[in-house]
Amino acid sequence: MDSQEILDLSLALAKQSEVPADTTINVPAKDVRRVLIGIDVEAADLLVAKEKGYDLVIAHHPTGGSAILEFPKVLSKHGDILVRHGVPKAAADAAVREMQEEREPQVHAENYDRLPSIARMIGIGLMCIHNPCDEIGRRVMDETLRAQLPPNARVRDAIDVLSAIPEFQSAHTRIVLRMGKLENPLGAWAVHHGAGTNGGVPVARAAYDNRIDTVFYIHINAGALQRLWERYGREGSKNLVVTGHVASDSIGINALVREMRARGLRVDTYSGIVDV
Ligand SMILES: [Fe+2]
Ligand SMILES: [Fe+2]
Repeated sequence: MDSQEILDLSLALAKQSEVPADTTINVPAKDVRRVLIGIDVEAADLLVAKEKGYDLVIAHHPTGGSAILEFPKVLSKHGDILVRHGVPKAAADAAVREMQEEREPQVHAENYDRLPSIARMIGIGLMCIHNPCDEIGRRVMDETLRAQLPPNARVRDAIDVLSAIPEFQSAHTRIVLRMGKLENPLGAWAVHHGAGTNGGVPVARAAYDNRIDTVFYIHINAGALQRLWERYGREGSKNLVVTGHVASDSIGINALVREMRARGLRVDTYSGIVDV
């Protein structure tokens, strides 16, 4: 396989027809036999990979080029998720715009060619596959909940159902409830993952203010959490379940790893992937 065929494979698994903005091939690789894949890739990793005979390094998080510069575009997928869960389009669009405005100055300032330039110097393939893997992970979580939640589920039941997924079983983190109560009714719920990054305050607010009771994020920072507590109450009726970053990212990455291995590639995982 070459790097383009690996990218196409990830799109097929995610059921996507276009390459998402946060996903790109920085340095193409032909005739790939050995792949090293990790959640975050740094410069030193590329040297080690070259020395150990890998043809291609795949990162999950954006490595450079358009995946960094165009990143805010992928946040629009939060709008799609909100609308699919009944949030009016105007409210969903406003949440997306707020997130994009927070991000755009940052990506505009980033050094988008650092890692790709080092990969070119070393002579090793480099690509990042971000949203396709996150979309696969979102589906797994969403479909697992749909299939296994008991009637009149409580928040605790949802955490129990998700916790049975192998990546959550093997991770060193647990799924945590950051807002609300375990005994609360789960109510209307939505997995807000597979849209660049967590939806922060804007997406959670759009969800809670439009009849969604329980939001699932894979991570959230303390400042955003504080603001949500102030608005909805730390132990109120609105619930925020946080599933854990590397464990959740690993779900979609592992789906891709299995398919690459099935096609005869030797694929080794590192940098946080919970390889189950
Ligand atoms: Fe991810
Ligand atoms: Fe991530």
